[in-house]
Amino acid sequence: MRGTWTSRFPPPHDHLRAGNVPLFEDRRIEWAINQLGGVEGRRVLELGPLEGGHTYMLQQHGAHSIVAVEANRSAYLKCLITKEVLGLERARFLCGDFLAYLEETDETFDACFASGVLYHAQNPAKLIHLAAEHAESLFLWTHYYDERHVPSRGARERVVPAGWGVYRGFRHRLFRYRYGLSLKWAGFCGGNAPFSHWLSRDDLLACLEYFGWREVSVAFDEPLHTNGPALALTARRATIGGL
Ligand SMILES: C[S@@+](CC[C@H](N)C(=O)[O-])C[C@H]1O[C@@H](n2cnc3c(N)ncnc32)[C@H](O)[C@@H]1O
Repeated sequence: MRGTWTSRFPPPHDHLRAGNVPLFEDRRIEWAINQLGGVEGRRVLELGPLEGGHTYMLQQHGAHSIVAVEANRSAYLKCLITKEVLGLERARFLCGDFLAYLEETDETFDACFASGVLYHAQNPAKLIHLAAEHAESLFLWTHYYDERHVPSRGARERVVPAGWGVYRGFRHRLFRYRYGLSLKWAGFCGGNAPFSHWLSRDDLLACLEYFGWREVSVAFDEPLHTNGPALALTARRATIGGL
C-alpha cells in the first residue's frame, strides 16, 4: 500500500505517511453539511469513501451512522485502517459495488453523499435514480461533459460522444470516458469497468429533476477544472405532494 494513499490524515495524525490531498478537511463537505442543515443524528449513506476522509468528517459533524460502500479492495482496506486510527465507531464500511447494494437493500437514509463517483458510473442515470429511492437528500460532486473543455491526454480527447442512453424513460446523451493506463496504477480509484459515461451539465440537472430531486443548489462550479468541468450540488427529494 506504500505510495498509493491519496489523502492526508487530519491533525494530530498528519505525521502518518499517507497522501497529500486534504480529503479529511474538505471544504465541499463542509458546504454540503451546512447546506443540508447539518448531519447531527442523521443516517448517512456514502458512496465510494476511498480512504474514509469524508466519512471522518461526517462522524465529526455528529452523524448517527454512516454506511460507506467501497468497491476497490485496496481502498476498502485503507478505510478500515482509517476507521481504527481515527475511531470511526459510527461508520460501517462495506466492500462491494454500491449500485448492487442499492438494488438489494431496503435501508433508507437521511442523506446520500456521492462525491467523485457519478462520472465513474457506466449508467449515471441509474445512480441518480437509486439514490432517490433510498435517501431524502443528496450531495454530489462530479465531473460533467462540456465540448468547450474536454480533458485530453496528449492530442487525444479522453471523453468522447457515445450516443444516446435511455434509462426508465429518461433520454440523455452519453460521453465515454476511457481510463486507459491509469487502470494499472495501484492507487487507481475509478469505477469497476474499463470506461464510464459522463453526462452533460444540462442532462445532469434534467436527470435529477426527472428522478424527483428538487431544491438543487450548485456550488464549486469549475468549468475549467484540469480533469474536466466539475461542480458540487445538494438536492432534496420531492415529497409526494410536491411531485
Ligand atoms: C474518485 S474517488 C472519490 C473518493 C471520495 N468520495 C472523494 O470524493 O474524494 C471514487 C471512489 O469511488 C469508488 N467507486 C467507484 N465506483 C464504485 C462503485 N460502483 N461501487 C463502489 N465504489 C465505487 C472508487 O473505488 C473510489 O474509491
